[in-house]
Amino acid sequence: MNDMLTAPSLTAEHISSFRKIVGEEYVFIDGEALRHYSHDETENLSYLPEVVLKPRTAKEISAILAICNQHRIPVTPRGAGTGLSGGALPHKGGVLISTERMNSILEIDERNLQVTTEPGVITEVLQNAVKEKGLFYPPDPSSRGSCFIGGNISANSGGPKAVKYGVVKDYVLNLELVLPNGEIIMTGANVLKNSTGYNLTQLIVGSEGTLGFVTRIVLKLIPLPKYDLLMLVPFASLEKASETVSAIFRAGFTPSAVELVEIDALKIVSAMVDSYAVPVNDDIAAHLIIEVDGNNLDVLMSEMEQIAELTSQYGGGEVFFADDAQQKAELWKLRRRTAEAIKLAGYTIEEDTVVPRANLPALVKGVKELGKKHGFHAVCYGHAGDGNLHIRIKKEGTVNSFGDPEMTKSLRALFELVKALGGTISGEHGVGLVQKPYMDVVFNPVQLELMRGIKKVFDPNNILNAGKIFDL
Ligand code: LAC
Ligand code: ZN
Repeated sequence: MNDMLTAPSLTAEHISSFRKIVGEEYVFIDGEALRHYSHDETENLSYLPEVVLKPRTAKEISAILAICNQHRIPVTPRGAGTGLSGGALPHKGGVLISTERMNSILEIDERNLQVTTEPGVITEVLQNAVKEKGLFYPPDPSSRGSCFIGGNISANSGGPKAVKYGVVKDYVLNLELVLPNGEIIMTGANVLKNSTGYNLTQLIVGSEGTLGFVTRIVLKLIPLPKYDLLMLVPFASLEKASETVSAIFRAGFTPSAVELVEIDALKIVSAMVDSYAVPVNDDIAAHLIIEVDGNNLDVLMSEMEQIAELTSQYGGGEVFFADDAQQKAELWKLRRRTAEAIKLAGYTIEEDTVVPRANLPALVKGVKELGKKHGFHAVCYGHAGDGNLHIRIKKEGTVNSFGDPEMTKSLRALFELVKALGGTISGEHGVGLVQKPYMDVVFNPVQLELMRGIKKVFDPNNILNAGKIFDL
């Protein structure tokens, strides 16, 4: 590991310059604030920054970065801190920049079906604002009620609707970016097609705040579908449930969500939110949550029936159709709060594996076998329609995978299986800090060197989110 950057302690002059830039009241050096920003939702990891800054504008961020670049001070960008791979952990100390004050939706362009927003807007707030105009921004991470759109850009987030509508990258048209040296650029143009030179916009999406600081975002919108229908199908076998997923698509359906929840996860989340909307009995191993959406209700009802019929051919049990908005909301609440609930139940380690959809049964089988071999218990859930399986792991006495030699060995075996199945290690949470040790499982040295080269072009002094994704 050769990180170039060793965190120097900040001086009183640095702090005083930051105060001049963002204003006295937005510079935090007290223990409570530093502790609050020392962790996100990743395992139980915590690293204290030396100072927390809450700027309001790109210009302020530019001035901060110029100082940090000159003095080689590490900078960690942070959205709402809901990340699961440690992308926002200030593991090198230094300056943490929170986007929480950059929370304005700047323009909803109804003529062009676009929205321009600052990065600190909560994803669901943005979705609701465009919904009022009959428009739809589909990417919907489970944390959409609290995560920021800027964080979604940096991780290239997905969520349940990604299976039909795509992930964040499919909606980002243009970004305002502050480079580590303080220069401010736009990455592209507010257009739906663009073959003009390298695609800097898409390079920044998913780059986890390592190349520049995103300060303004232009997103594509689509018309809001009028109807959605939701059903829940129980299965006596996790593998059978997984097998059904690819059969649905092969039969020609395009559901707007196909989510898998293993029974242990459902039991835990039902208890936490005190909801027993979904019956759990000993014959059930997993459920599929299947949604279709569109503008013709008759077509959707017929599709739902046909999909239900198909699931029974694959061993699915009695289908529960969510009849009204309240039942739908209840089901989605259970699904959305799964991650939080199982973490509280001691499943601290979260993986975000993704394989070609038809290989999902082999992945769930392999996960269980690895659990037996390596002495951990795994609970599976996630975006089965995308082949994207979240695997929560509990191992007595282990709270973090990062830095734990045994857990590192187990996860390496898991990722080797994922790679052998044609998959990769993160579908939507990013590499951040905790997936970094496994990048060599899915990339060879030539590929990694190309990525490092890109980082060096953008950030030659390695100040911005240094040591995330890979070490230099
Ligand atoms: C989910 C988050 C953890 O799907 O990605 O619930
Ligand atoms: Zn997810």
